[in-house]
Amino acid sequence: MGEGINDYTKNMVDLRRHMWMAGVEEELRRLIWQIAVVGKYISAKIHEANRKLAGIKNIYGDDQLSLDCAADDILRSQLQFSGFVREYASEELEDIVKIGSGKEKYIVTADPLDGSSLVETNLAIGTIIGIHKESILDTGRNTMVAALYITYGPLITMIYSAGKGAHEFVLNREGEYVLAQENIKLKEKGSIFSPGGLRRDWIPAHLKFIEQLEKDGYKLRYSGGFVPDINQVLIKKGGLFTYPALQKSPQGKLRLLFELQPMAFIMEQAGGLATDGKEDILSLKVENVNKCSPVYIGSPTEVRMAKQFLN
Ligand code: AHG
Ligand code: MN
Ligand code: MN
Repeated sequence: MGEGINDYTKNMVDLRRHMWMAGVEEELRRLIWQIAVVGKYISAKIHEANRKLAGIKNIYGDDQLSLDCAADDILRSQLQFSGFVREYASEELEDIVKIGSGKEKYIVTADPLDGSSLVETNLAIGTIIGIHKESILDTGRNTMVAALYITYGPLITMIYSAGKGAHEFVLNREGEYVLAQENIKLKEKGSIFSPGGLRRDWIPAHLKFIEQLEKDGYKLRYSGGFVPDINQVLIKKGGLFTYPALQKSPQGKLRLLFELQPMAFIMEQAGGLATDGKEDILSLKVENVNKCSPVYIGSPTEVRMAKQFLN
């Protein structure tokens, strides 16, 4: 007797079932699910762009929107009608926009496409999402209730946390996000480091810190894509990613709201830490949507070591 669908699905925990079993509240479950589905559409856009790069005309014949804007358009239009989102903030928009009726429960922040400059190299890129209950700028406090990121690599994977651990899913051939590992926990100490920025631009304290990691035999792993670089620290269960303060830009390059706080939320759920060198990333006030911050994020030993060198 051929393998029936029941046999096939009996050991499969898909994203919706996992969130239900984890006790994630219903509207948040449905919002996370809808965002995960958008990942499939964004992935299709990436492939389409690659076809374009391969000289094949864009299938719609229109001007190829920059991929960042196309990803943002897809995400925003899906969230507009989700019934769960009242405000949307995106790296591709000047400011927070009101969407829906205004009575919806959540506010979503997005880096719709992180690492778009890597598309033509066929390296992995990603989408970063933060889900908040209160308006971000008004409170200044962090009211994130969930965060997720999608990695568009050889496989499409998604890591989400709704405050009950960090869990990895893989998009299978049937288009289901299937649980790959749950409650990811970082070791106290890792063996890789991912140092952004140019060495000649580093401030002296940061240079000394990196030289110590090199002396201690940490292996350098840096792709230039924040999502895969962070994902590597998480899946290897340890290590450190940093994009530091630079002499000419003391706030570094990465955006607190769209990139750093969602990743800090997930990394802390996995037993990691995330700091700007002094304060926790999640405790920093988001003064404006494009505020940047230096970042040291990963397993506790390396993050604490960074703080010692920087203070
Ligand atoms: P984005 O594509 O969303 O603008 O982000 C790019 C960021 C991030 O992905 C990565 O960590 C960083 O740029 C790399 O910067 P460098 O090229 O200076 O290393
Ligand atoms: Mn980015
Ligand atoms: Mn981006």
